[in-house]
Amino acid sequence: MSLSHTSVSRQASAQELLIWDKGTRIFHWMLVLLVVGDALTGWMAPKWMLNWHVAFGAGIGMLLIWRIVWGVYGPGPSRFENFIRSPAAVLGHLRSVASGHPRWHAGHNPAGGWMIVALLITLTLILITGLIALAGEEKQGILAGWISYGVGHLCKEIHEGLVTLLFVLIPTHIAGVILESLLERENLIRSMITGKKRLTAIQTLPELQQAKPVHALIWNSGIALLLWVGYLGLGEHPAPLGHAPWSASAAGYAKACGECHWSFHPSLLPESSWQTMISTLDNHFGENASLSEDVRRQMDDLLRTNAAHAWDTKAANQLRRVSKEEPMRITAAPYWLKKHRHIPADSYASKSIGSKSNCPACHQDAESGHFTPQAIRNPKEKIA
Ligand code: HEC
Ligand code: HEC
Repeated sequence: MSLSHTSVSRQASAQELLIWDKGTRIFHWMLVLLVVGDALTGWMAPKWMLNWHVAFGAGIGMLLIWRIVWGVYGPGPSRFENFIRSPAAVLGHLRSVASGHPRWHAGHNPAGGWMIVALLITLTLILITGLIALAGEEKQGILAGWISYGVGHLCKEIHEGLVTLLFVLIPTHIAGVILESLLERENLIRSMITGKKRLTAIQTLPELQQAKPVHALIWNSGIALLLWVGYLGLGEHPAPLGHAPWSASAAGYAKACGECHWSFHPSLLPESSWQTMISTLDNHFGENASLSEDVRRQMDDLLRTNAAHAWDTKAANQLRRVSKEEPMRITAAPYWLKKHRHIPADSYASKSIGSKSNCPACHQDAESGHFTPQAIRNPKEKIA
């Protein structure tokens, strides 16, 4: 087989073949970096770093699109058609490894090839479910406002399940690489850096197609354009939070209920809680907060029609479930307690916060009822 008109060029020092082109190698190591970045920001970073998580995810998305196109138009060893093999080929390969006479492949062996496919599919599904979760739960991203909280929440769970699967696949992939390196006496991690493999070890030469970079560029540009047009086509959803923007001052609410504390966003309690509260204002947490009959009726109507059920934010969906003992306290709801359990109780007493029900002290977007992770002020900064 002549190597002269192939992408797999013989190196000057002989003995070594260039198997992994520069594009595939850069893809591989950038993907490693971005997956590590996304894992760290997904698990360990504070909530207000969500933008980083999303940015890393967007980077992975671009890499995946590039790699899928490169799997069709890249040089031989990087092409899907050369490493996606039949189950019989996979079994044959595994049997040859077990027998002690493994068959060496220039590119991915048949078992490794399927691992690449599994990794690419899992990553793609993680990105898609992440995008839907971001839209449904956080009301952010290109699908914001088009996905319900319920669907977003379900996708968040699937997103997390797929990440667990990814973190089973990655060690298996690494174990496979180490095993093959040992058997083949060839450092395959080095190969993914230099791109080269020793010729002597290779028994099966790869299919020797040339890369078609112009085709790849056209496809990548086309897909980018399509995504952009799709994004513009989605337009802006008229009520991204599941409700038209709401203003506390417009309806006299801030005046009637904002005298002693922040005028709580109506989405933070269910209708039944507001109803009880409005009918017991003469004994309101030990205070007399009575209103004239007119204003009382007005507030009753306002709070009940704009209560939790009328919104689709995470806060509204989660805070619908109130405490049995204190159904009128947002700060007694199980979700509220769970989310704020790491905040030391005495920090609320600091001058800049004052009370745990002073939501806007720590949530910059409290007025809108959105309560996005990015708008959380670092309470440590605040408290210090
Ligand atoms: C006279 C002062 C006063 C007025 C007026 C007042 N409140 Fe309150 N409100 C309080 C006090 C005091 C508490 C208890 C604060 C605490 O224990 O941290 C409270 C607590 C609350 C809470 C529970 C906060 C939590 O911890 O989850 C809500 C909700 C609330 N008020 C809504 C309203 C609404 C709605 C109105 C208008 C109809 C109103 N308040 C008017 C004094 C007032
Ligand atoms: C002392 C600062 C502070 C105050 C006051 C405070 N919060 Fe928070 N809140 C936080 C922090 C910090 C987090 C993030 C916790 C975490 O990392 O999971 C948070 C998380 C949340 C979340 C979940 C956000 C998400 O996407 O995971 C909601 C909803 C929320 N708070 C609502 C409220 C409401 C409603 C009030 C007022 C009744 C309030 N908070 C008062 C600091 C505060």
